[in-house]
Amino acid sequence: MEELFLSRNFKVPNAHTLRVYEANGGYQAMKKAFKMDGSAIIDEVKKSNLRGRGGAGFPTGVKWGFMPKDSDVPMYLTVNADEGEPGTFKDRYCMELDPHRLIEGCIITAWALGIRYGYIYVRGELQNAIRTLQRAINECYEKGYLGENILGTGLDFDLYVHSSAGAYICGEETGMIEGLEGKPGQPRLKPPFPAIVGVFGAPTLVNNVESISSIPFIIERGGEWFASMGVEKNGGPKLYGLSGHINKPGVYEAPSGITVRELLEEYGGGMREGSELKAFIPGGSSCAVLTPDALDAPMSFEGMREYGSTMGTGCITFMDQNTCMVRIAQRLAHFYHHESCGQCTPCREGSGWASKVLDAIEAGRGRKEDLELLLDMVDNVQGNTICALGDALAIPVRSYLQVFPEEFEAHIEKGCCPYPKWGKGKGK
Ligand code: NAI
Ligand code: SF4
Repeated sequence: MEELFLSRNFKVPNAHTLRVYEANGGYQAMKKAFKMDGSAIIDEVKKSNLRGRGGAGFPTGVKWGFMPKDSDVPMYLTVNADEGEPGTFKDRYCMELDPHRLIEGCIITAWALGIRYGYIYVRGELQNAIRTLQRAINECYEKGYLGENILGTGLDFDLYVHSSAGAYICGEETGMIEGLEGKPGQPRLKPPFPAIVGVFGAPTLVNNVESISSIPFIIERGGEWFASMGVEKNGGPKLYGLSGHINKPGVYEAPSGITVRELLEEYGGGMREGSELKAFIPGGSSCAVLTPDALDAPMSFEGMREYGSTMGTGCITFMDQNTCMVRIAQRLAHFYHHESCGQCTPCREGSGWASKVLDAIEAGRGRKEDLELLLDMVDNVQGNTICALGDALAIPVRSYLQVFPEEFEAHIEKGCCPYPKWGKGKGK
């Protein structure tokens, strides 16, 4: 992309300070928004085709439209910064390198919807992001951009950074809300959705970091401009995190709808020497795995669905010929079992059983009938749980079994894993 937006400050020295952010045009969108009516701002966000950047891709403008217009209790904004999906690492860049863009997005959102309090709920491991955000918030209070009667507009908006305690499930929006209320992060049944009953029972808008960081650009240049930077129903520039056996892993900004091939070759520098692409996970570990014949899939929610997966968070993991697909499925099952909050039997027990069966297959102790058993187990988990963690286990495990059945069979027939162990083989 010739002109950068979300990542334009990533390489600017000291862009995390208010002085440098403002010197580069920061907080102009907020001042423009203060001259606009809330409903006009919501319309621009709807026109922008911004899809939630946390993984589910719900249209942001539609979600904003669910917030009540005449709430008799103070409303909340919670920015979901509990980025924990394996393979996903883009939001931390926004928080550590460009925190004021996120804060500016929060202020515009509060103005548009009449929100009184905001929390940025940050994954506990990201201590640098927490400190950087807190310093930036302090600067805003000193400058009068946060607090009461902001710049004489009548807007009262307080913003807090809240550290999670490091549980993946607190990234699920209602788990996060429970966490904010000081309770264990156990997801709630939906509906009611947070827009109606959220933090402390009040209407609450939950948006991802990158989504809110996109808002200043939508105000600055308009919703139609943002939509034009993408494809149908998927607007805007977007951050992509590329990792795995590639030459240039990292976070890159590119339009929505770009193909996986373009991201790999033009941004990620292609596969490493000696590595051939065997498989990739398009948007975080809870997506179905894809093979090189899907390299021309566009990074849009509708486009990726045609290839049998989802765009998720837009963070892609590329795996080469030395990667054991059974081991990947095993690692994921371990992760989801470890992170299950334990409320629902299918998730709590199913993730544990899937882990044990995959441990046995990977160790060469599997039986032929275990493959059917695994499929049956994940079928019983998917769709039968309170939150999406159950699906996040079932979808990838099923896809590894269906896309690479011969690898599972080879483990069983040979009685061992035919691949080099982690750290020993080339490209591991
Ligand atoms: P979801 O599809 O249930 O909901 C998406 C959003 O739309 C939520 O905020 C929900 O409240 C809202 N919504 C949906 N229908 C609504 C309605 N009728 N009325 C009001 N609001 C409504 O998806 P969910 O469970 O929030 O997220 C799952 C995704 O999260 C997965 O795709 C996974 O990839 C991703 N994820 C991302 C992580 C990360 O680190 N970024 C970590 C874990 C999961
Ligand atoms: Fe907890 Fe798993 Fe149920 Fe989600 S699906 S509420 S993580 S037990």
